[in-house]
Amino acid sequence: MPDLVSQLDLPFLDTFGLERNDAVEAIKAARAMHWLARNDLGYTVTRLQDVTAILRDQRFHSGLSVIEQAPEFQGSYPGGERRQSILTMEGEGHARLRRLVAPAFTPAAANRLRPTMRAVVGGLVDAVVARGECELVADVCEPYPIPIICELLGAPSEDWKLFSHWATDIFRIFNNNLAEDLPLIEKADAELTAYVSDMIAERRAAPRDDLLSDLIAVEEAGDRLSTDEMAMLAQAVLMAGTDTTRNQLACSVALFTEHPDQWALLAERPELAGRAVEESMRYLGAVRGTARFAAEDLVYRDVLFPQGTLVVTSLAGANRDPEAFEEPDAFDITRERGTAQMTFGAGIHFCMGAALARAELQEALPLLARRMPDLARNGEIEWKPSSFGIWGPARLPLRFTAS
Ligand code: HEM
Repeated sequence: MPDLVSQLDLPFLDTFGLERNDAVEAIKAARAMHWLARNDLGYTVTRLQDVTAILRDQRFHSGLSVIEQAPEFQGSYPGGERRQSILTMEGEGHARLRRLVAPAFTPAAANRLRPTMRAVVGGLVDAVVARGECELVADVCEPYPIPIICELLGAPSEDWKLFSHWATDIFRIFNNNLAEDLPLIEKADAELTAYVSDMIAERRAAPRDDLLSDLIAVEEAGDRLSTDEMAMLAQAVLMAGTDTTRNQLACSVALFTEHPDQWALLAERPELAGRAVEESMRYLGAVRGTARFAAEDLVYRDVLFPQGTLVVTSLAGANRDPEAFEEPDAFDITRERGTAQMTFGAGIHFCMGAALARAELQEALPLLARRMPDLARNGEIEWKPSSFGIWGPARLPLRFTAS
């Protein structure tokens, strides 16, 4: 007979509000006691093996859909039922979308955007290098990803501020204040949908070399993506691809300020960019965890999880699991590639933009290392409150040798 999860004697793990290293220590202590920990909303797994297994287990569904089911959302979407996001879909409907959009998100597709990435990040760096100091979040990280997403979608680059504004408002969904934020969220959602629908109509008339034209081509080749599905995908790409990348870049650079020898090494050997990205995402990932809930009564590792049980999969925990990584607390960009880092998740919801995000970071990090030598903090780093969502420095004041 499996044990009922609520009756297990488990450590309690709450990293909310903890300082970065304290959170790592708390996870370590809980992991040493049991493979499972309790939290305020449900349970947490912290070992790589369990994090991967649960993310791949389709009896567990995306925890984000719990937000979408909030009573405030019911019936409020202008089109009637609120359309579902790829992040919260499951089963065949989700698999179909992933199949259809996969060709647009390959490493080769991401590589086509590298010249744009170099131009955007290069321009942002040009504007600050002569000063010998900057606040990296505002000066480089925040403005970097949205022009790339605009280029990917085929929106004019001067519209990046519009996209940035919509992304900020739609992100309010995570602020825990839906009653107040809902009008803003829905206004941004409606404006973005209208903008993208116009773009789709234009591409139907005259296809170009961009994501929307690719998605329309898919539509024409047998199986069809509806305009609404394309608008949802454009929104998912904007939402999932901006705050993540900018926070990861800031996390990675913050980490390098603690390892000046590795920063110098990256400047000297830009071919280490790929490893530097994987290692900094492992050591200090901007997505600390994600969540799943049991879609049915289910047994995992001889434990019964009743339907509706929430399980947080700690990506940060998995990334420092001593069973998976040798010397997990050492940061080393020359580390031989072994186990893959977990900050892009796993299973059917594995990050669709991983190749694009990798390319963006691989372009930015060596360029920054070369152009900002002798990097050091120029005051305290202000970290966003730790949560299991997207996280990173709110302010990252830096100084370096001016060029
Ligand atoms: C360093 C940057 C990024 C990180 C750390 C990251 C991380 C993640 C993670 C952990 C998930 C899975 C969430 C879950 O299982 O609950 C995810 C999903 C997703 N990501 Fe990313 N992401 C990044 C950049 C991007 C970019 C640039 C794009 C778009 C171009 C993107 C698009 C998506 C989409 C559409 C999904 C949903 C996939 C699905 O549900 O099937 N991400 N990402």
